[in-house]
Amino acid sequence: MAIRTIREIGDDILTKKCKEVKELTPRVQELIEDMFDTMYATNGVGLAAPQVGILKRIVVIDTTGEDPHVLINPRIIETDGEQTGHEGCLSVPGKTGVVTRPNHVKAIALNEKMEEYELEGMELLARCICHELDHLDGVMYTEKVEGDLMNLEDLEQEAEEEE
Ligand code: NI
Repeated sequence: MAIRTIREIGDDILTKKCKEVKELTPRVQELIEDMFDTMYATNGVGLAAPQVGILKRIVVIDTTGEDPHVLINPRIIETDGEQTGHEGCLSVPGKTGVVTRPNHVKAIALNEKMEEYELEGMELLARCICHELDHLDGVMYTEKVEGDLMNLEDLEQEAEEEE
């Protein structure tokens, strides 16, 4: 188990396009394990390889803590609906912003055995698939934010006051 360092906004690697994975080497397997470890250790719901400094088309997602998915060379094949809500990113610590995404997404990817499968998600999972796949093309959610980025603390405080 190894927790890797998360690259933060301003780091060039986060704006680069990642390369397809052609072969499941031991190094790639280790990277996937480390990506899960890193995501869980930082309480994230998704992580893309460039966020740990590797320009490969690999994403890990787990929106519930017990629903892990690895997506190798993923692509979105269907979207519908729309959701507008707050989004955050481990590479933009302490910040959040409002982004509109499809409410339903179907993606096709390879799993940890390089077998093709489909992952379909609504709401948070759909948002997460879109956000993580964007990372593989060097796109940060901050480019899609409606209005201003805000501090996560302020949002949490507002939510408490509303209760
Ligand atoms: Ni992110």
